[in-house]
Amino acid sequence: MTIMSSQFQPVLDRIMAEIDRTPGRGRSADYIPALAARDPRRFGMAVAELDGTVYGVGEWRQPFSTQSITKVFTLALDLAREGDELWEHVGREPSGNPFNSLVQLEYENGIPRNPFINAGALVVTDRLHTRTGDAAGELLSFLRAESGNPDLGFDEEVAASETAHGDRNAALAHFMASYGNIDNEVPVLLDQYFRQCSIAASCADLALATGFLARHGIRADGGRLLSRSQAKQVNAVMLTCGTYDAAGDFAYRVGLPGKSGVGGGIIAVVPGRCTLCVWSPGLDERGNSVAGVAALDRFTTLTGLSVF
Ligand code: DON
Repeated sequence: MTIMSSQFQPVLDRIMAEIDRTPGRGRSADYIPALAARDPRRFGMAVAELDGTVYGVGEWRQPFSTQSITKVFTLALDLAREGDELWEHVGREPSGNPFNSLVQLEYENGIPRNPFINAGALVVTDRLHTRTGDAAGELLSFLRAESGNPDLGFDEEVAASETAHGDRNAALAHFMASYGNIDNEVPVLLDQYFRQCSIAASCADLALATGFLARHGIRADGGRLLSRSQAKQVNAVMLTCGTYDAAGDFAYRVGLPGKSGVGGGIIAVVPGRCTLCVWSPGLDERGNSVAGVAALDRFTTLTGLSVF
């Protein structure tokens, strides 16, 4: 089956109608008050084509807390700078454990399983910060440029709330520092990481910002961020690790590289064709948006677009 671009809008409209009837949409993240306040029934979805044309439905222009979705962009920005040396400091195997788990770190000598669990993301942000002097600022500039939205910014309330409830991430960072796998002072790194997680953006912004992964490493302005091979690597790690201990189920149901965040957003990539972002704050017990996964599942079924 080949889907024409003009069919994206009717497909999105149909998904929105069908998802609206789905009961039991999970619970908003409640580890910080700023996220717990979100109504879990809200929903938006956007598809961006390679040329930047965007289709959307529901609250697709509503900014939400990007959270762990940003781990994809910091990985790409660091990989572009340091190349394969990064993989000496973070692995690329699924962890099979929750995103904030500590258990594997000790018997794997402070090397996190992959860049998308919190431990791995802390290593990536640390290394990006060493190379740029401002990891979160570098990330924000990149997201603004790729989305074409200069209004994207940090949500200071969310960042402060993360800091106030940051014991677990602090434990991860200190533990890895004890193995020599963190360069910066832990409080400096945590500040960068929490600012990174706090960036607010919409489905339209994030679908556009993910475009370089569908364009095999090429940015919105035509410049290259990643080699074709590196773009493939990031997509592969998204497929195998992007939804944590639910990555197998996500691959089975959706069949696309994807990355979730506890704000309720998920980005996904159809290499060579388009990118998607869906947002609905109701999460399952593994931290993935219930309606978001269901919507992506429906999208790949209705369009036949998948990496398989
Ligand atoms: O580090 C944390 O706990 C949060 N700021 C981000 C976690 C997150 O989004 C994990 N994703 N599902």
